[in-house]
Amino acid sequence: MKKTIAEHAERFSEAAGTYDGDQDSEEYLACADLVVGHAAPDADEVVLDLGTGTGAIALALAPSAGRVIGRDISAGMLEAARSKAADAGIDTVEFGEGRFRDPGYDGQVGVVTSNFAMHHLSDDEKREAIGVIADLNPRRFVLGDVMFFGESDPSEPFYDPAVDDPATVGTLVDTLTDEGFVLVAVERVHDQVGVLVTERFGERSERAGVVGGGVE
Ligand SMILES: C[S@@+](CC[C@H](N)C(=O)[O-])C[C@H]1O[C@@H](n2cnc3c(N)ncnc32)[C@H](O)[C@@H]1O
Repeated sequence: MKKTIAEHAERFSEAAGTYDGDQDSEEYLACADLVVGHAAPDADEVVLDLGTGTGAIALALAPSAGRVIGRDISAGMLEAARSKAADAGIDTVEFGEGRFRDPGYDGQVGVVTSNFAMHHLSDDEKREAIGVIADLNPRRFVLGDVMFFGESDPSEPFYDPAVDDPATVGTLVDTLTDEGFVLVAVERVHDQVGVLVTERFGERSERAGVVGGGVE
């Protein structure tokens, strides 16, 4: 990680007021739509959205999920997310402090999502985070992010080498499969933006995050 957690948190809290208005790139919007579409939670499932920011993914998924848990390190982004949930009358989403490697949630979860956030971690930290996600035992993990399908190009608008640390698609796929995820879809939005859709082996009854703690 090129900045500390506290530095990233402060950076995003400062930007929280203008964040949503700034997210108008075709690639960001396409990536967010793909993450939401591939997450496709069942009506009784819990979704955990990591690096939730102002809740773009969490709030979009709330109407179709049982419950959505949004986790982020930035108090300002979380405050904006809570305010948007209140304005929209959505009470099935809970936003709170949590990190990729310590999400502060250990209940059952059916689907984990993350959009445009994991690239702040180094590759070793991403591996640790993906291990933590695997331990939560979701049936599906959908990762939308800055990722390199080809050569990295810092002149593109999607990342800043001073603060960001995107991985190659190959590194992400190796890490995900090492942690027991099976790649079921790859969406290339841009040479530096994509969505990886992964699922776990095993019985669904061992994994489904069902509201109330039960299993199907
Ligand atoms: C570019 S925003 C993306 C927000 C949202 N997912 C979206 O699609 O609009 C990245 C978010 O990741 C959060 N973040 C950065 N490092 C994090 C970490 N280690 N754990 C959790 N969240 C983190 C930031 O605070 C910020 O809100």
